[in-house]
Amino acid sequence: MELFGNRGMSFRITSLSENQPIDWKAHHVPASALDHHGAADIHHGVELKLGILGDMVRIREARASDVNGIRAVHRAAFGDEGPIVADLALALIADESAKPILVLVAESEQGVVGSIIFSSVHMPGSEYGPSYILAPLAVAPEIQRMGVGSQLIESGLTVLRERGAELVFVLGDPRYYGRFGFNTGHKVCAPYDLPYPEAWMCLSLGEVVPERVNGQLVCAESLNRPEHW
Ligand SMILES: CC(C)(COP(=O)(O)OP(=O)(O)OC[C@H]1O[C@@H](n2cnc3c(N)ncnc32)[C@H](O)[C@@H]1OP(=O)(O)O)[C@@H](O)C(=O)NCCC(=O)NCCS
Repeated sequence: MELFGNRGMSFRITSLSENQPIDWKAHHVPASALDHHGAADIHHGVELKLGILGDMVRIREARASDVNGIRAVHRAAFGDEGPIVADLALALIADESAKPILVLVAESEQGVVGSIIFSSVHMPGSEYGPSYILAPLAVAPEIQRMGVGSQLIESGLTVLRERGAELVFVLGDPRYYGRFGFNTGHKVCAPYDLPYPEAWMCLSLGEVVPERVNGQLVCAESLNRPEHW
């Protein structure tokens, strides 16, 4: 089934049922990193053919064997900040307070070439449904601007919608994330004061009207540190 199609690339939903559930123990990450759905419950992924390289990139849920690739792609994509962001990515995966978490990777013949993490957030005193924050997102420098980042985002939002997620937050460039419907119309406070409030965005996946959403966001412990804001 065609899921998305733009810029001369084709995307196809494929069965991932052959994938084994994540065995995080094998990589010394607590088994608690598995969310309550279990990795095997993700029944589809996305394949895209990068026209320029002729290379196939498949988007699927991460497995324990991807940990080194996830670390490497963050180090490569974020330059000087790479080690810090890579540590954040791995810390989130192992963080009990980030559950349920969704980790997708983009994989080519070269291994992991992209990664996206959606970790759980909540707002004390508010009654919104399951909510997440998108962070971090990384695509290997040599294949940036070919649609991989967009597909990681779209695929993640598709899975979260299926899981009944209500809100997704992101701190990033509005010109990029605005394409996916993220906007600043909400009234939710980030964990810290932000120098660029226009970068603090929310997307509603359900019936909630973002303009009416307010509260104080609490993220997973590993993301709630000031250096990440
Ligand atoms: C940001 C990133 C994930 C985007 O992934 P990608 O695969 O390169 O992006 P896509 O191919 O899906 O989209 C490319 C489009 O987004 C735009 N874009 C890419 N990165 C952008 C950024 N940081 N800010 C604004 N726009 C950006 C490009 O201009 C391009 O626009 P065009 O289609 O009009 O030419 C990737 O460039 C990356 O890993 N960057 C370094 C790490 C980073 O900044 N991560 C995001 C913050 S968590």
